[in-house]
Amino acid sequence: MGKLGSNDHVAFVVGNALSIPAKDESKDLVWCEDSFSHIPPKIALLRQCHRVLKPGGRLVFSDLLSAGRLDPTTERQFERAWCLSRLETLDGYLNLLSQAGFEGAVGSRVGSQVLQEHRLAESRRGDTTSTEYIRWLRENETALREQWGFEAFACQMERLNMYDYLEAGKLEHGFFAARK
Ligand SMILES: C[S@@+](CC[C@H](N)C(=O)[O-])C[C@H]1O[C@@H](n2cnc3c(N)ncnc32)[C@H](O)[C@@H]1O
Repeated sequence: MGKLGSNDHVAFVVGNALSIPAKDESKDLVWCEDSFSHIPPKIALLRQCHRVLKPGGRLVFSDLLSAGRLDPTTERQFERAWCLSRLETLDGYLNLLSQAGFEGAVGSRVGSQVLQEHRLAESRRGDTTSTEYIRWLRENETALREQWGFEAFACQMERLNMYDYLEAGKLEHGFFAARK
């Protein structure tokens, strides 16, 4: 940050989003990417975001969403594998935003488009792609089950199902914006 000359504009503060270390009505913008589904209860989280925003301030976030198309047992397994609380739906978030006191809330589904961006980012970074990693896991299943144990292997496979679920529209990705 120093090199970029941003020291006066940026500060890193570690804290719990359920108790944001910021004064009431002190922020113009609260912005979060793909983290809210890890932080229950969501109504308490959204009330915290509302508390720290100045009147007229904006909350903008993205999150993984339930599309209501996975059977409930599979959806619960997926949530456990990713340490998520119950996945919210698009309409569920819009309701919660209004309950937390936000106005003019809008949300849009991104669906499998997020996968294309994820894959583009992987190839730009030169990482092992998720497709290659999934293939490697499947090819080495017997050995990995022995090394990691049954539960850890099953959990890893369930995490990676995210790509198939997004592709098939069984999970969605959403962007939201709302005003205090
Ligand atoms: C999927 S990661 C997303 C990280 C980043 N926003 C990104 O897009 O790469 C979820 C993040 O939520 C954070 N997190 C989970 N519970 C939290 C809490 N109660 N307060 C603050 N952060 C939390 C985790 O530490 C983790 O960094």
